[in-house]
Amino acid sequence: MTAKKKAHLLGFVQHGVNSHATGMWRHPKDKINWDWTKPAYWQHMARTMERGLFDAMFIADELAPYNNWEGSSDATVKYAVQCPVHEPSTIVPIITTATKHLGVGVTLSTAFEHPYSMVRRLSSLDHLSSGRVAWNVVSSYSKSEWDAYGADMTARSGRYERMEEYMELCYQLWDSWSPDAIIADRESGIYADISKVKEVHFDGEFFRSHGRSFVAPSPQGRPVLWQAGSSDRGRDFAAKHAEAIFAVHPNVDRMREYSDDLTNRLETRFNRKPGSVKKIYGVQTVVGLTRSEAQEKYERIRECIPLEGALAWISGHFGPDFSKYKLDDIVQNIEIPGIQGLFDSIIYAKGGAPVTVKEAALIYAEGMGMPRLIGTPKDIADQLEHFLDEGGADGFMLAATYTPGCFEEFADLVVPELQRRGRFRTEYAGPTLRENLLQH
Ligand SMILES: Cc1cc2nc3c(=O)[nH]c(=O)nc-3n(C[C@H](O)[C@H](O)[C@H](O)COP(=O)(O)O)c2cc1C
Repeated sequence: MTAKKKAHLLGFVQHGVNSHATGMWRHPKDKINWDWTKPAYWQHMARTMERGLFDAMFIADELAPYNNWEGSSDATVKYAVQCPVHEPSTIVPIITTATKHLGVGVTLSTAFEHPYSMVRRLSSLDHLSSGRVAWNVVSSYSKSEWDAYGADMTARSGRYERMEEYMELCYQLWDSWSPDAIIADRESGIYADISKVKEVHFDGEFFRSHGRSFVAPSPQGRPVLWQAGSSDRGRDFAAKHAEAIFAVHPNVDRMREYSDDLTNRLETRFNRKPGSVKKIYGVQTVVGLTRSEAQEKYERIRECIPLEGALAWISGHFGPDFSKYKLDDIVQNIEIPGIQGLFDSIIYAKGGAPVTVKEAALIYAEGMGMPRLIGTPKDIADQLEHFLDEGGADGFMLAATYTPGCFEEFADLVVPELQRRGRFRTEYAGPTLRENLLQH
């Protein structure tokens, strides 16, 4: 008999006041006596996730407030739709000094930063965390980001082409120092063996770089590479480069389809083994000691959503200004330039039945289109097991509701249930994030 697959777990947040459940900052249980702009909050969040033996805290990011709804960022700012959001890599050392094992996935965009400084920043963080950093590679899909940086937005295909070259230069820089390049021989005065620190000479279509990387080899060599692209091109990029992917699918059939597609791409296009990329699916959980308690909690969470904020969010993520549509227009008929993979989660939110603009906004605002698991620890564990066995999931990205409470509840109530069923680790596999993520 083959052993049961164990889940990986990550806590999905932003370095901001409100992440992926719109209006949660209004909830009476959100951040009671905590200030999200201060280290103590992040240290507590990190220790909570480590207590629950999570693989990592995963920090999503955007570079500017969405400005698609009514052609302005007014509603985004007014309703705290993922705004304000502070720079994500600044909290990585705070999280990793408060913990020993917990990893941190940090979303950093390739759009406006040269690969040379990206490598330097990520490798520095990998050193400071003793090898616990993952990079969620994104290319800035949102118009507001390009507006804020005063640049013309490039089309999806152009962004992927540029990102391919970006990665190529990053790999050369990461690989340029041999792991044994540093001798540090006081006698001779030789610190590094220059024959083991290659000069990079890169002249690409988008980037040029000449010189040596400035960073000594970090514990993981390079951060764990993470990706969430979901268009055809995005899936290829993930299948080629990623060690873990993050996807959102509203039901187990869509998970299975995605999983089969990824496995097929790995094998047929990139000569990688099936299973060499961990498939981490987003879920939102609302746990109670009884079903009615959980349902009651869920209703409280939904009450926090402001409709206009929700509409501003779908406009930001999917691209069109939804104020130009009627609330009862059907979203399936609308062409979107934004995050296709997340839009699919809305299209299939009612099993393929028509979804109106208003429904789409309200469903999405609950937790970015993720399946909502509401119930007792046993109910939630049942669902997670189903996704592991039938959906091809290797683990789950847990979308925050009220914080830090939602992660405390998951760690205290659901983790022990998963452990009892042999579906979750009882100790970390090793000191680095890669070791823990690759653990079966
Ligand atoms: C589940 C999920 C999470 C994502 N999180 C982020 C994020 O935090 N920041 C970001 O800039 N893009 C994020 N993206 C966008 C993707 O990285 C990608 O750039 C975008 O989906 C466009 O590529 P695609 O058309 O191939 O999907 C996310 C996408 C998905 C599906």
